[in-house]
Amino acid sequence: MSEERLQKVLAAAGIGSRRACEGLITSGRVTVDDHVVSELGAKVDPERADIRVDGRPIAAEHFRYIMLHKPAGYLSNPDPRAGYPDWQELVKVPERLYAVGRLDVDSEGLLLLTNDGGLANRLTHPRYEHPKTYLVQVEGFLDPRKLRRMRHGVMLDDGPTAPAQVELLHEPPPEAEQGRKKAEEQRRRRAGLEAGAAESGPAGGKASPPAGQARRPRPSSWLKVTLREGRKRQLRRMVSLLGHPALRVIRIGLGPLTLAELRPGKWRHLSAGEVRALRALVPADAAGRRSATDIDRPDQTGPRMARKIRPLPSTIAIDGPAASGKSTIGGRLAKELNYLYFDTGVMYRAITCVALAQGVPISDEDAVGQLAEEVNLDVFSPTVDDGRDVTVLADGEDITPELRRPEVDRAVSPVSAYRRVREALTLQQRRIGQAGRVVMVGRDIGTVVLPGADLKIYLDASLRVRAHRRYLECSARGQQTTEDEVAEQLRRRDQFDSSRQHAPLSVAPDAILVDSTSLTIEQVMEQMRALLKRWGERKK
Ligand code: DC
Repeated sequence: MSEERLQKVLAAAGIGSRRACEGLITSGRVTVDDHVVSELGAKVDPERADIRVDGRPIAAEHFRYIMLHKPAGYLSNPDPRAGYPDWQELVKVPERLYAVGRLDVDSEGLLLLTNDGGLANRLTHPRYEHPKTYLVQVEGFLDPRKLRRMRHGVMLDDGPTAPAQVELLHEPPPEAEQGRKKAEEQRRRRAGLEAGAAESGPAGGKASPPAGQARRPRPSSWLKVTLREGRKRQLRRMVSLLGHPALRVIRIGLGPLTLAELRPGKWRHLSAGEVRALRALVPADAAGRRSATDIDRPDQTGPRMARKIRPLPSTIAIDGPAASGKSTIGGRLAKELNYLYFDTGVMYRAITCVALAQGVPISDEDAVGQLAEEVNLDVFSPTVDDGRDVTVLADGEDITPELRRPEVDRAVSPVSAYRRVREALTLQQRRIGQAGRVVMVGRDIGTVVLPGADLKIYLDASLRVRAHRRYLECSARGQQTTEDEVAEQLRRRDQFDSSRQHAPLSVAPDAILVDSTSLTIEQVMEQMRALLKRWGERKK
């Protein structure tokens, strides 16, 4: 954590008002690392410094860490306009506490409350990705295919979800009985609100059952799910997308903490061991990933460095011919920026794989087009540690190892030239791109998929150099080929991709051309960083 004024740290720890804390300092009652600090204006790092008032350490005594079992119908972040009570009705303590992370009003379970701002910030920072475990009651039963999709990830509007642990429970967990009434009340209340909104809405809406009169419940089942990310209503959106809306969501674990026997509406202080475990989970001095704003100042990564914030392009399109280094550069750039990396070529490859596997003739445009409209594709960051740079599921099946087979290399260009195929895939790509914070790589990203992309790059290299790079990749995969053969294949593919009728490979008028023929990967990355810097300076 960064340094803060001593009086602010004392006040945040609940010692007293800031004015009162200033009085304690000037009267010489405060020590920092065994030295009396009696001047105002001193700054300290509350995570590292041993701060004492009258010889008593402040952190140990005055930071509060509370675990609440939040019932349904309570807000985790107070909002007087929302018409719901919040957790402050249940936890009455003199300190000003904050909830760590969010837990939807409909959701129940473990909510961590604290006034330790440093720890709270780190716990909610996406960089740390600590596990959160939930019990989820869903309508109906997820079949093994859907369970697999949930484990690998699900494509939501704001990008794919990370891999999750998902376990189907064979009977309702003991927690199911607790809090059930409140959850049902909350559901009825929400159904009532939604019915009211539909009735008063301009277009009327589908007839909903009146408030309090719930429709007959469908059979339901329980899952235990562990996620390492926490997007808005993520779990509910995941199960809804699979056709099994959530009836209840109960958080039972947060990093090292477990809800255990704590009853709904009740709270307790964390033990010293639990606080230590939380701190160990998100250490104050962890370097973490370099943030985008460090990009042109690679040496200045210390946590105490004041950072200049420069705007960054939110959508970055990288187009170019085969083997020009788009995926290597795109992947690295996305990692540095902490953006989603999305290689659209794998979608065309996936459709080709499925067509080949199902015996659909590649020359049958209608049949391949229909397939592209019907197959459910999910593209994720790697879910298996086997050297892959992406995971692709087609209707829940992991087809990643098939994507780079020579048969697919040969058939993918004609498949990607079909109008229906392009329309089906472009739609999905656009949706993901529009959510922002994405590096999207392909042939028509800057021209067709995201013509309004903030930054467009066209990456090129001579045919010889590209063939050499691709040959090395093929050899590493154990494929028998020669550099000349690879060069010929690339030449044919580029020609096909550039001359097709729909969305041919071309340089967008506002794209920046980067030729990597005589550059190393690191040198291309340096150029990318320079482009980002220039982009940011123009926007300032
Ligand atoms: O980048 P790649 O080699 O994995 O792409 C496979 C094929 O998909 C390639 O021949 C061109 C096509 N493609 C496309 O037409 N449009 C895209 N946005 C991405 C790939």
